[in-house]
Amino acid sequence: MTQEATAGHPSRRTRPVVEDGGARSDRFSRRDLAKVAGSGALGFSARAAQGGDATAAGEGGRDSSFPSGFLWGVATSAYQVEGAVSEDGRGPSIWDRYTHIPGTIADHSNGDVACDHYHRYKDDVRLMKALGVNAYRFSVAWPRVFPEGSGAPNPKGLDFYNRLLDELMASGIEPFATLYHWDLPQRLQDRLGGWTSRDTAKAFADYAGYVAQRLTDRVRHIFTINECSRLVSLGHGLGIDAPGLRLARQQLNQVRHHVALAHGLSVQAIRARGRPGTKLGPAENMVVCIPAILTPENIRAAETATRELNGGYLTVMLEGKYNASFLAQVGKDAPSYTAEDLKIISSPIDFIGLNVYKADHYIVAADSARGFARAPFPSSFPHMEASWLNFAPEAMYWAPRHAARLWDVKSIYISENGTSAADKPTAKGEIYDLDRIMYLRNYLLHLQRATSEGLPVAGYFHWSLMDNFEWADGYQERFGLYRVDFDTLARRPKLSAAFYRETIGRNAVA
Ligand code: NOJ
Repeated sequence: MTQEATAGHPSRRTRPVVEDGGARSDRFSRRDLAKVAGSGALGFSARAAQGGDATAAGEGGRDSSFPSGFLWGVATSAYQVEGAVSEDGRGPSIWDRYTHIPGTIADHSNGDVACDHYHRYKDDVRLMKALGVNAYRFSVAWPRVFPEGSGAPNPKGLDFYNRLLDELMASGIEPFATLYHWDLPQRLQDRLGGWTSRDTAKAFADYAGYVAQRLTDRVRHIFTINECSRLVSLGHGLGIDAPGLRLARQQLNQVRHHVALAHGLSVQAIRARGRPGTKLGPAENMVVCIPAILTPENIRAAETATRELNGGYLTVMLEGKYNASFLAQVGKDAPSYTAEDLKIISSPIDFIGLNVYKADHYIVAADSARGFARAPFPSSFPHMEASWLNFAPEAMYWAPRHAARLWDVKSIYISENGTSAADKPTAKGEIYDLDRIMYLRNYLLHLQRATSEGLPVAGYFHWSLMDNFEWADGYQERFGLYRVDFDTLARRPKLSAAFYRETIGRNAVA
């Protein structure tokens, strides 16, 4: 549990909801972006549209450019943005049930309407175009496609994704679909006990195969499961996320095993039923271990720590076995599993997605049997608006570097990165989110350090396109490049939207 408690985002906080200072227009235009960014952004947009400048030099003359063909994207997930929870035959998910239990969500909100992306997706694709992104990571809502979790599919549910995909293709934006971003059909929770049952893993594979069959004519990249570690620990151990369980250790370890198994089974189902050439992998919030000081011993120790502390997730997916330290940690509460399960879990994948927000540990070499120790975080260590989100830009270098070195991963996407911020509008409604820009600039510099050393990072997805439903924190934590006024649902660009657009246009850290 120690490992999981630090790997997730246990960020329950109560703060007053930020008042919106008057962003009232329903439509976003380029002029809005230029207004908030100053006139320089206008002049730049023409260059950005030409596809960027691969030789751009950063301030001080250092070449800070990314490889040509690098993908720049934004990310969202179904329950956090779609709304329309009862439309067109969608069944309930565990998040619908959970958010309606009093006391579960900090601001007593839910995802019933969220950003209303279900109806406003065309406008939202326009927002993406205005940023200049060439990729969009969204998730498919399992209960839209299979309202009962399994059995008869709901064609109207799938149609929403058909419409979205057509819009993206027409805009030249490459779709990356996540199949599970935590919205388990409630019926599977009721009927099978959700992830406590092995049958849920099988139902997931059936759903994955079906979606692959129907959508891989346009979707060429699929993320199987988003942040296995958080859905296990916060949903089933700490009782913070849906379904709000606090299972005993053995059951929790069994849930973890079923989730890993679901990943592996879905890989096989997508290969069997998807279009040949479809690329796939997980999107994981790997426990990020950073060498406290760059000595060869500390770097080795940080690598060892990474392998050990990700034992139930990336390590077993990429090595096909639970490592000794994982098994020692779970002890008599180990999950029951077969050798065949391990083969399935480690079915070959094409890439890994890494959700990188923060440092989990700073590591020093030690004389202990493990060979590493975690340096304690001082109380003055800086963090962003959310207290869990420490400011550790070098995480963006070490996460892909460890993955590439430890497991010889040939292709990596940063499937999420971003921060919430206070985002207090000025009297005119503008948002000068200098803290988000500071965060992004520094994280992207470390990403550029990674690509310039040849680490195989192929793209970056900013979390998130727009403010949305931030799980147990409700609408209080705002992660968007666009501000959403949750009374009117109007979107409005923050200064960081202009920063991101500028970065994409240069293909270099701006
Ligand atoms: C990771 C999750 O995948 C996403 O749903 C969440 O909103 C962000 N982190 C920010 O906490």
